[in-house]
Amino acid sequence: GKTIVVTGVSSGIGAETARTIKRQGGTVIGVDRNPAGEAVDSFFQADLSSRDSIDALVASLPHGIDGLANIAGVPPTAPPEVVVAVNVVGLKYLTEKLVSKMSENGAIVSIASLAGVGWADSVPQIRAAEGLEFDQIPDFCREHDIDEQRSYFFSKEAVIVWTLQNRWTWRDRGIRINAVSPGPVETPILADFVKTLGARVEEDMRVMDRPGRPSDIAPVVAFLLSDGSRWIRGVNIPADGGMNSYILSHKH
Ligand code: NAI
Repeated sequence: GKTIVVTGVSSGIGAETARTIKRQGGTVIGVDRNPAGEAVDSFFQADLSSRDSIDALVASLPHGIDGLANIAGVPPTAPPEVVVAVNVVGLKYLTEKLVSKMSENGAIVSIASLAGVGWADSVPQIRAAEGLEFDQIPDFCREHDIDEQRSYFFSKEAVIVWTLQNRWTWRDRGIRINAVSPGPVETPILADFVKTLGARVEEDMRVMDRPGRPSDIAPVVAFLLSDGSRWIRGVNIPADGGMNSYILSHKH
């Protein structure tokens, strides 16, 4: 079985991904700021909004990691600079550091979101965030109008664009990168989305025949971590009951 690092393992989609990987015979190294649940073989507490915490985490992780599932994320109820730190800068920093401990033919999968569907219209703003350091995030948010309404969308658009851009970055070692974009999923943060984004999320939920469940997302993540997806590189796979194509077709 493969050894997979799962961030955000203590709740929702991360916890379900850990269970799925275990069922498929894999070994789960869990990472979260909160204590872990049952489905992990080992666990490391870390704050993925902090460079120091990520440095300490990567230093203590073993070599020979076959996969990284970037699932930790915060909703738009968190301050914009925290949303950008956890969902974008921390995710990228952890990935780029952890690659040195990954096996040949490893796989990276990041959870983006249906909220990132509009990325094509945000490329200049996303470009401006390339190379953004942790301590520059507050200024960046102020200068680019990344407020409560925008932070979560921006963060997920940036993850999608970064995934597409890095299709071949680690090709010499056979390491692949892909993303999965869920629509609304019944987890503890769903209520936070409704609180901040209100009508947009409620409208999505009305159009969908039902909200997603973590078990609708985890198998897609597990597939992208497995050898069966070896020729899938640099893509974002929507897992949202059809919402992504619904939104795109209604816009054009
Ligand atoms: P959740 O709140 O159940 O799980 C998120 C996990 O991330 C928690 O265990 C939390 O402790 C951890 N986390 C947050 N900040 C952290 C930090 N600074 N350091 C370490 N761990 C941290 O939420 P859910 O729904 O399972 O979310 C997982 C991912 O899926 C997130 O990236 C979220 O943005 C994304 N997503 C969720 C959707 C939904 O409707 N639930 C829809 C689309 C995407």
